[in-house]
Amino acid sequence: MEYEVKPADGRLGILIPGLGAVATTFIAGVEAVKKELAKPVGSITQMGRIRLGKRTEDRHPLIKDFVPLANLEDIVFGGWDVYSDNVFEAAVNAKVLEPVLLHAVKAELEKVVPMKAVFDKSYARNLDGTHIKEGANKMELAEALMEDIRNFKEENGCDRLVMVWCGSTEIYIEESEVHQSIAAFEEGLRNSDPAIAPSMIYAYAAMKMGVPFANGAPNLTVDIPAIVELAMENGIAVSGKDFKTGQTLMKTILAPGLHARALGVNGWFSSNILGNRDGYVLDAPENFKTKEVSKLSVLDEIFKPESNPELYGDMYHKVRINYYPPHGDNKESWDNIDIFGWLGYPMQIKINFLCRDSILAAPLVLDLALFTDLAQRAGMSGIQEWLSFYYKSPQTIEGLPPEHDIFKQLMKLQNTLRHMMGEDLITHLGLDYYQDLVDTL
Ligand SMILES: NC(=O)c1ccc[n+]([C@@H]2O[C@H](COP(=O)([O-])OP(=O)(O)OC[C@H]3O[C@@H](n4cnc5c(N)ncnc54)[C@H](O)[C@@H]3O)[C@@H](O)[C@H]2O)c1
Repeated sequence: MEYEVKPADGRLGILIPGLGAVATTFIAGVEAVKKELAKPVGSITQMGRIRLGKRTEDRHPLIKDFVPLANLEDIVFGGWDVYSDNVFEAAVNAKVLEPVLLHAVKAELEKVVPMKAVFDKSYARNLDGTHIKEGANKMELAEALMEDIRNFKEENGCDRLVMVWCGSTEIYIEESEVHQSIAAFEEGLRNSDPAIAPSMIYAYAAMKMGVPFANGAPNLTVDIPAIVELAMENGIAVSGKDFKTGQTLMKTILAPGLHARALGVNGWFSSNILGNRDGYVLDAPENFKTKEVSKLSVLDEIFKPESNPELYGDMYHKVRINYYPPHGDNKESWDNIDIFGWLGYPMQIKINFLCRDSILAAPLVLDLALFTDLAQRAGMSGIQEWLSFYYKSPQTIEGLPPEHDIFKQLMKLQNTLRHMMGEDLITHLGLDYYQDLVDTL
């Protein structure tokens, strides 16, 4: 199937539920990059290159020169939060970026003032914000969000919108009856069914307004049949879930390497300390459970213990997150990996990653917003599995196991871009041009 990609003309509005550490680091970062105060390191759309054609052709354009992406100059930001702080104030509170940098973009950040959130404390009991919408039922709240979206688009002269969830992790919810169809979901909205979390209300409003959605938290949100059905019906791109940053990023880089060399793994113990608001929300066991499920899924899919029982059948995998305020957004993680090699001889790998959570997540928000907008302009609706690269727990169509290996995810992302632009896909076989080179010797 050939795609006809519409140009990225006009303004793109990026709407963000949750203007906390990640979102404010993202917005401040884009404004700083626009003023040439810093570089968008970690963003594939801004700094990544893509190989085209044969290895001998030496064609490696920047991705942003290869596919038509929105320009940073054409982006407008908006969002919702349960706290009424503008993005400058919220960024200062998040303590991720230096005051000097924040002051250099203060005027731009102060302009982004959160709209009242759709929120219910029973989904994140450690939050106490009061900047919250009221409505007789969840359907009314969804309608209020649609009104916000309509007004934002008009007031900011946007041609297109995209929504990226950067809100807190909600309590653990499993898919149930109310999520199975659009009709059941809409009935649930009218009855304020407790299985419909606030993030799903944003997702529903986005789908009704034709706004594509990327889900940065491990919440179900767009990963339920009712929302996928709406996305397909209305021709809207969706993807999720849970930004793949610190420890899980390292896991999906390292585990494919161990697996590739048929090295065995007995155990993988992952521990973290972090002290930001995300860490505080995750300190509630019912919220941690949502994150834990997302973080645990990656190794099984990469190692496939059922097909490799001698190497991975007994693997013990544990993930802990501990709230530790003194570290703030500077998460520290430790991994102890017990591996074994030739003749079963044991070895250990230790990783101590002193990372910055929001610094790793911010470029992902930018890439997801720009690629989701690209997908939408290319007419690609429904689940965007090619964006699995960015997620801990990639959303796939029912019956299709997710791919967690970051190198396969990258290949899929790049081949999707090549396919979109009518370039040859790269298989890395190379036999064809080997023969050409041999012939010239
Ligand atoms: N930083 C990372 O590396 C990383 C990686 C993966 C996922 N995430 C996820 O991204 C999300 C944001 O992380 P953060 O560090 O910015 O957290 P944060 O606590 O600083 O920000 C989240 C914001 O969302 C707001 N919020 C919560 N519920 C809301 C609702 N219903 N509507 C509107 N606003 C709402 C909160 O008030 C808060 O300001 C979290 O779910 C986190 O788990 C972060």
